Amino acid sequence: MIGQAIARRMAEGGARLVLADRAAPAPVDDASLCLAADLADPGPVRAVIAEALGTFGRIDCLVTAAGVTSLGAFEDITPDEWDRVHAINLRGVFLANQAVIAPMRARGSGRIVNIGSVLAKNGGNPRPWIDVGEQSRASNAAYGAAKAGVHALTLYLAKELAAHGITVNAVAPGPIASPMTASFPEALIAQIPTGRMGRPEEVAAAVAWLCSAEAGFVTGEIIDVNGGLWMD
Ligand SMILES: NC(=O)c1ccc[n+]([C@@H]2O[C@H](COP(=O)([O-])OP(=O)(O)OC[C@H]3O[C@@H](n4cnc5c(N)ncnc54)[C@H](O)[C@@H]3O)[C@@H](O)[C@H]2O)c1
Repeated sequence: MIGQAIARRMAEGGARLVLADRAAPAPVDDASLCLAADLADPGPVRAVIAEALGTFGRIDCLVTAAGVTSLGAFEDITPDEWDRVHAINLRGVFLANQAVIAPMRARGSGRIVNIGSVLAKNGGNPRPWIDVGEQSRASNAAYGAAKAGVHALTLYLAKELAAHGITVNAVAPGPIASPMTASFPEALIAQIPTGRMGRPEEVAAAVAWLCSAEAGFVTGEIIDVNGGLWMD
């Protein structure tokens, strides 16, 4: 959902897009190249990047928006569930970031924007209206840890690539209306200082700005788009 909004926004700005998801996503315009790929695995990630380079000759921007969510008390998280969440939410981001370094460095320019999360920072959304047991069952520790990893690799890569004209940033959304948050209770929405969930287009606007020429001196930044749910 957020990825589609980012794609629409980038297309409006004149970008030619390569979109990848488990099943080939719907094109946002006639020029979009839409690919099916498991972005948690190195082979498909490399294939997507190679196809993008083969079709368009260069990659100006990489945006990593694929992800899965996970809920459950910390002590109930199985190693398999930990790995499932981390495979796409963290390893997939690592793989895609790594795959664009060489072509971007060869051109001396590039923009990487990773999608992180407020859940990397706040220890889980506050749910003061539910009891302690329910609070732990609604925890997202595997997800939050993966997203914290995304924030950290963003900073490391930003420093490594700064001298090559490549910026690396992240956008950390709070609750955004999408299938991932379809079951969000009203009481949680009321905890957001703005009193509403965010819109995918509001995340897309931050991504588009980070990809723009105006943001050339911004790197290693995690931009919160969370309605004030968490401030740091
Ligand atoms: N919705 C929110 O409130 C929210 C908040 C913070 C961060 N995020 C992050 O924003 C990003 C987009 O989330 P969304 O809300 O649009 O969710 P979404 O479920 O609509 O989109 C996620 C997409 O990732 C794809 N995906 C999952 N695993 C994949 C894999 N192995 N290979 C290829 N594609 C895969 C899914 O098919 C899906 O289309 C995610 O990284 C999510 O963690 C969302």
